[in-house]
Amino acid sequence: MLTAIVLAAGQGKRMKSSLSKVMHPIAGRPLLHYSVQAAIDAGAKKVVVVLSPGNEELVSAYLTETFAAGIVTTTIQDPPRGTGDAARVGLEALGDIEGGVLTLCGDTPLLRATDLTPLVEAANADDVRVAFMSCDLDDPSGYGRVLRDADGHVTEIREDRDLKSEAQRATTEINAGVYLVEAAAFRESLSKIDSSNAQSEYYLTDIVSLTRVSGRHVVAVSGAITAMQGVNDQFQLVACEEQLYARSARELALAGARVASSARVDDTVTVETGATLGPGVCLRGRTHIASGAVLDVGTVVTDSTIAENAYVKPYSVITESSVGLGAQIGPFAHLRPGSDIGEDAHVGNFVETKKTKLHKGAKANHLAYLGDGDVGERANIGAGTIFCNYDGFSKSKTIIGKDAFIGSDSQLVAPLTIGDGAYVATGATVTTDVPADALAISRVKQDNKLGYASRLKSRLKGAADKKKAEAAKSDS
Ligand code: UD1
Ligand code: CA
Repeated sequence: MLTAIVLAAGQGKRMKSSLSKVMHPIAGRPLLHYSVQAAIDAGAKKVVVVLSPGNEELVSAYLTETFAAGIVTTTIQDPPRGTGDAARVGLEALGDIEGGVLTLCGDTPLLRATDLTPLVEAANADDVRVAFMSCDLDDPSGYGRVLRDADGHVTEIREDRDLKSEAQRATTEINAGVYLVEAAAFRESLSKIDSSNAQSEYYLTDIVSLTRVSGRHVVAVSGAITAMQGVNDQFQLVACEEQLYARSARELALAGARVASSARVDDTVTVETGATLGPGVCLRGRTHIASGAVLDVGTVVTDSTIAENAYVKPYSVITESSVGLGAQIGPFAHLRPGSDIGEDAHVGNFVETKKTKLHKGAKANHLAYLGDGDVGERANIGAGTIFCNYDGFSKSKTIIGKDAFIGSDSQLVAPLTIGDGAYVATGATVTTDVPADALAISRVKQDNKLGYASRLKSRLKGAADKKKAEAAKSDS
């Protein structure tokens, strides 16, 4: 049985943040998520995450709500005395296990199960006790170097600060920090490591030389540097996030969605084949985009569902809402939480909705605020309509029947019900319910005074000229 230890103790001081390093969000998930998921995907049946006392509560809460019960547990390393000590704490927490133990760091979000497959295969060879991942770097400084004997066999991993010669420093093969060790051998070698090194820490890497001394095999499995990149500061966090977004855009495109390379799709989002994501589209949280949906430039969708063939025009913002089949949104529409836009409904430019349902074919094409509403099938909401849903203390509902017509620039003062097929004339302030098929009109009667415009203009001009002349006199 394969088990895994994820090393995630320590403050992560270089993040310069009060939030624990491994809980920093990256492409929609905490940093730590990716290592744990990679371990599970690689076949680990149990994963233990080694934490510092400070971040235990927050991290445990996340792991419990995210991963299946019983697979992922946490343990605490206090004080942090190095990676070897952390691995020992993790191994203890795994209990009486047998088989391979995968050890990963909690800050390598690009590493995936597919990167681990060669390691798992190498470790399965009969005589191998320790397998770890290495890679070649042009600039290996800071990393532990993989040292080999004349026959090319790995003899040791030596930390940067403990290197003894120029030849050692020039070694470009580095330790990536991913190991697979058979449980009993792991226990034995971890019990032997000491802290006689430049940092007076217990180095996990010392298991390599200890295993070699005991005459067993160690193999280094070479991997791609892109997969191994770690996050130590905010700059590296953003750099890795860019790579995660580039990766998801590429993978979605290869799976048959049309995705601009600048689209940013979080790891929590699902996008069906045949969907289109334009440049700068950001998809976050529990969002699902169905086939045939088009999300045009700059649209931001969070925790929402977009149904088949819906068309979201540029720069729309959609949060905790759903958009139905073939519906059209935007440009510049704002669907706030609880908006439910039905099949073939339209929400046009500068329309804001909140906790409002638009039934099939309903339309609000321009400049409106629809809060706490229910708009019947095929109803038409004119430009400038406001659902006055809030009196400063509480919210009330506006219910509009099917085929109703709300004229432009109307204020509907909730609570209010407008019946099926009713007609609200332009510019109405509607304060009482409108029965089905009724016309509601509330405006001052218009009065045209014939020939009055030119007389009015000359009177106004005369007054203005007089004012100017008086001002000139008092200046001189
Ligand atoms: C480690 C390796 C180095 C390798 C590099 C790859 C050792 C001694 N060195 O160095 O060979 O090239 O990773 O990135 O292992 N951690 C704990 N408890 C501790 C110390 C660390 O849980 O007491 C965790 C950290 O949270 C981190 C991981 O172990 O996730 C690695 O620790 P870090 O201090 O970053 O090791 P490096 O110096 O980078
Ligand atoms: Ca590191």
